[in-house]
Amino acid sequence: MKIRKAVFPVAGLGTRFFPATKIVAKEMLPVVDKPIIQYATEEAVNAGITELIFVISRTKTSIQEHYTKATELEKELESRNKHDLLNTITNILPAGISCAYVEQHKALGLGHAVLCARPLVGDEPFAVILPDDMIDDDASGCLQQMVQVYEQNQSSIIAIEEVNRSETDKYGIVSTSPIANGLHRINAIVEKPKPDVAPSNLAVVGRYILSGAIFDFLENLGKGAGGEIQLTDGIAMLLKKEPVLAYEFSGTRYDCGSKIGYLKATINYAMKHPELKHEFAAFLREHMQARQF
Ligand code: G1P
Repeated sequence: MKIRKAVFPVAGLGTRFFPATKIVAKEMLPVVDKPIIQYATEEAVNAGITELIFVISRTKTSIQEHYTKATELEKELESRNKHDLLNTITNILPAGISCAYVEQHKALGLGHAVLCARPLVGDEPFAVILPDDMIDDDASGCLQQMVQVYEQNQSSIIAIEEVNRSETDKYGIVSTSPIANGLHRINAIVEKPKPDVAPSNLAVVGRYILSGAIFDFLENLGKGAGGEIQLTDGIAMLLKKEPVLAYEFSGTRYDCGSKIGYLKATINYAMKHPELKHEFAAFLREHMQARQF
């Protein structure tokens, strides 16, 4: 089956970026000149997704507004012959791509957020993208890599990467049996284990392709790690019924849920930006020398 739908859980409070995120959703913070969420939706569209499903909170409407046609702004740019800018605005949501929104009334956890999308997803396999995890692969994106693996295997797939053992309690951690280069079968998955009990140092990264069967498991889950309904626990149930694969993607992940990750992402994309890269690189060099880093 083709993967047509992607779910973006974006209802978090974004407290780590307060006060910047008091009003504006964390996913609307810009990395150079595009909000974080747009990098995620572009990655989805590149992977062949045609339906974008946002799980939102009631108070932060900026994401919906970003994906809504701005008729007046478009007319204004047209009348001023600003065609490049007009393209930039109209390409936020390319032709043929639809958006849907569902509200998560309470922040009960990632598993609960994904469950909120059930009426819009139905029974079909679907993708989940956590926009905080920005992945730059210098090509068509991590999700496209995963869709290719899905097309060959027709099983749920989770992106993973090795992390420092000291950091296992920040991630879902998998134990696996290798199948091929970079591809594993998951034997067990556990949310945020302490380093001494973690089954490995292979961490779940925010890209998933999941079978529709996950929803029944999520529906019946109790609270897990951190008192939240965890997607990881739903996947642990799913893998008793169906194979679930783990895929070591190519590319670099930036954890934009943290300030340092956000800054690293900003520097990465600024250094690649055609208008900025030379001047920005020169500035960084001078700055480092002047500060004697
Ligand atoms: C979530 C998932 C976790 C995963 C992580 C990737 O955690 O629950 O399994 O490893 O995303 O970023 P969060 O970062 O929301 O605490």
